[in-house]
Amino acid sequence: MTKMYSTLPRQYYTSEQIFREETQRIFYERWLCVGRVEQIPNPGDYFVQQVGLESLIIVRTRAGEIRAHYNVCRHRGARLCSHNSQGHVRDSLQCPYHAWTYNLDGQLIGAPHMNEVPGFKKEDYPLHSAHVYTWEGFIFINLASEPQPFDDLFARLSEKFAAWNIAKLRSARRIDYQVQANWKLLVENYSECYHCPLVHPALSKLSHYMSGENDFEKGVFLGGYMELNQGSMTLDGATCATPLGDVGGEDLNRVYYYMLFPNLLLSLHPDYVMFHTLWPQSSGETHIVCEWLFDPEVMVQPDFDAAPAVEFWDMTNREDWHVCEITQAGVSSRVYTPGPAYVGQEDLIVAFDQEVLKALGHHSLN
Ligand code: FES
Ligand SMILES: [Fe+2]
Repeated sequence: MTKMYSTLPRQYYTSEQIFREETQRIFYERWLCVGRVEQIPNPGDYFVQQVGLESLIIVRTRAGEIRAHYNVCRHRGARLCSHNSQGHVRDSLQCPYHAWTYNLDGQLIGAPHMNEVPGFKKEDYPLHSAHVYTWEGFIFINLASEPQPFDDLFARLSEKFAAWNIAKLRSARRIDYQVQANWKLLVENYSECYHCPLVHPALSKLSHYMSGENDFEKGVFLGGYMELNQGSMTLDGATCATPLGDVGGEDLNRVYYYMLFPNLLLSLHPDYVMFHTLWPQSSGETHIVCEWLFDPEVMVQPDFDAAPAVEFWDMTNREDWHVCEITQAGVSSRVYTPGPAYVGQEDLIVAFDQEVLKALGHHSLN
């Protein structure tokens, strides 16, 4: 007999204590996708990313490498760059408080009057930094002191997506959303199409909710595909562009949906790639970034238009955020108890929930 699984208890969506544990044990320990290398193409380009209570400066060095420095001055701790800022510096980051100055590698290169302090050595005060890894044009950071190597965790990914040539793609559009729902409800919503017939009438015309299957059903990388009955996921079902890279054969009739634990949702279409990154703000609020990636050679063509893909998914995203918000409200009720998952359609949710519990060191629920 098939075992019946249930979803997580209320406190996993509402408790600030569990939210703090998740911040410590998941968001401060795991590989997080912060965006694309194209955001900082030149030395001195940077952007600031908040992770829990931490703030990181993601910057390209003079040598062309990408570094992630904590946004914390080694003098008295002031933020070097303002919240969520982005921009370009020539070759250094200067603290706005007492002008301590760091090169892009994070080394302290200027500290006014500190040479008068006996024993002070600039080399003892570099910016603290986090680990960085780039994969297929995505920038990942990890705040752990000794993270598990990205390649060990996600080894199976590399060949899997080779045909889409994701590294080469460029962003045509970014939309930010602020959703009043726990980040796990958003991942759970992404992981099943049981809700599609009612919530997504337009999507359901393009892809049958019972179609496809999952090929990664356990661990930090979860997902599978669904079948397309038209060209792509767009407003009219037609593709926006010729197929990406070497996409061919049955992949021309599929959309692949994957979650890279914990914060990247990756959706591969024949003609474009969409991704979401999730940034939990509290137990009941999540900031989401969604971007649409296309082949840059197609993007320069005069008749190129990303709007049919962007508008289709913007509408679908909002349909999803709405059901996640009403779920957050209902899950917060005193009478809420976890319901049974519909095995087959919702088994990725069970796998994701188990991964969260494992990361938190909590007992498995089932
Ligand atoms: S706190 Fe940065 S220079 Fe003083
Ligand atoms: Fe959905």
